[in-house]
Amino acid sequence: MDLMEKITSLAKRRGFIYPGSEIYGGLAGFWDYGPLGVELKNNIKREWWKSMVYEREDVVGLDAAIIMNPKVWEASGHVKSLTDPLIECKICHKRFRADNEDIIREHEREHKGKSSWTESKNFNLLTEVYLGVTEPKEKAYLRGEITQGVFVNFQNVVSSSRVKIPFGIAQIGKAFRNEITPGNLTFRSREFEQMELEYFMEPDEKGSKKVFEYWKKERLNWYISLGIRRENLRFREHALDERAHYAKYAEDIEYNSPFGSPRGEAGWKEFEGIHHRGDWDLSRHKLTYENYTPWVIETSGGVDRALLFFIIDAYTEDSSISSEPRVYLRLNPRLAPYKIAVFPLLANKENLVKKANWLFGKLRATLPSVAWDDRGNIGKRYYAQDEIGTPWCVTVDFQTLEDGAVTVRDRDTAKQERIGVDRLVKYFENKLA
Ligand code: GAP
Repeated sequence: MDLMEKITSLAKRRGFIYPGSEIYGGLAGFWDYGPLGVELKNNIKREWWKSMVYEREDVVGLDAAIIMNPKVWEASGHVKSLTDPLIECKICHKRFRADNEDIIREHEREHKGKSSWTESKNFNLLTEVYLGVTEPKEKAYLRGEITQGVFVNFQNVVSSSRVKIPFGIAQIGKAFRNEITPGNLTFRSREFEQMELEYFMEPDEKGSKKVFEYWKKERLNWYISLGIRRENLRFREHALDERAHYAKYAEDIEYNSPFGSPRGEAGWKEFEGIHHRGDWDLSRHKLTYENYTPWVIETSGGVDRALLFFIIDAYTEDSSISSEPRVYLRLNPRLAPYKIAVFPLLANKENLVKKANWLFGKLRATLPSVAWDDRGNIGKRYYAQDEIGTPWCVTVDFQTLEDGAVTVRDRDTAKQERIGVDRLVKYFENKLA
């Protein structure tokens, strides 16, 4: 099994990511998050909001509607320009992105090297929806980026809060694109979530370069601070012909993924975009600040993509102890779905279960996300918690009943230490600080 197959299997088996509408055969590009997936996703979004809004003086939040007046998308240029080039195989009528050379070659191999393609045509990625109950229904769009909701509320935010330029508006929410070739688990989906900052500033070439560089660094460091390995991240500047219609200049943070890339470079894939949008959007919507049109630097990351890359980067197989590798997710404790798991050493010893249950209640009252497990033997429980990234396991054993101490086992080192129950809450509070 290659790494992506292992990750896909783990994600489904342990309740992180399920194929959408699976019992009806699924629907390409749509995914559901299970009990652990939703915790991980919420933790990612909480960390992002903390660093982008709560820890800053110059950023406020917003939550705009998914469906907007379609005039927004005409003004923003998305109706005309949010497109991908599409070609169709004349042999089997499957459709592909014309710029996806690896996938096209792979498809030609399926036809034993024969190839016959239609001309490339631009295909709009906005998803249409129809509103109202009587004909003619009103055509609208599911938002293709969450961004426009921020721009159309620019004046509202300025007049209803105390922000003054330079300042930012942060938002997290769902976006939808009719992607031609969704794939690689959630990497390219048709429904996905974005976490974005639009940072408004005075129009100034030199100043905007500084702000751009500042946000590049901030965003890279955020991923590193949550555990992504530095060597798996890099910046890549967009060539002129690949820049989005709104971008004056753009760079991506890329991740060294285990799957191929349309540009043929093994692995490096877009993780987050940093865009210099200049005055494109505000001037399109005819919005100004005092007597000028501000410029915008944007950071735009995908929540689903972040979740996928956090899992991939954390996935570890350790063969140093036994020939059967120990698999664990080296997730930062702030992201891990469960922070602690509590076990009674034996599930059929009433006094152990009682004590462990008491401890479970005590930890849960003060610390977030504590799990209980009394299935199978202790080795199997460690295995199960390692695989979902639980940083610490606490075992109540016979000695606990005598000395009031428990065994705390660390996920990454598999080392164990004895800690007094009365010190346990403080011990974990320090670890999670
Ligand atoms: N507002 C700017 C914008 O939407 P983008 O580069 O098209 O820019 C930003 O998207 C980020 O959103 C990407 O870097 C990626 O993380 C995420 N994203 C975009 N399309 C996606 C898709 N089809 N599936 C999952 N995530 C996607």
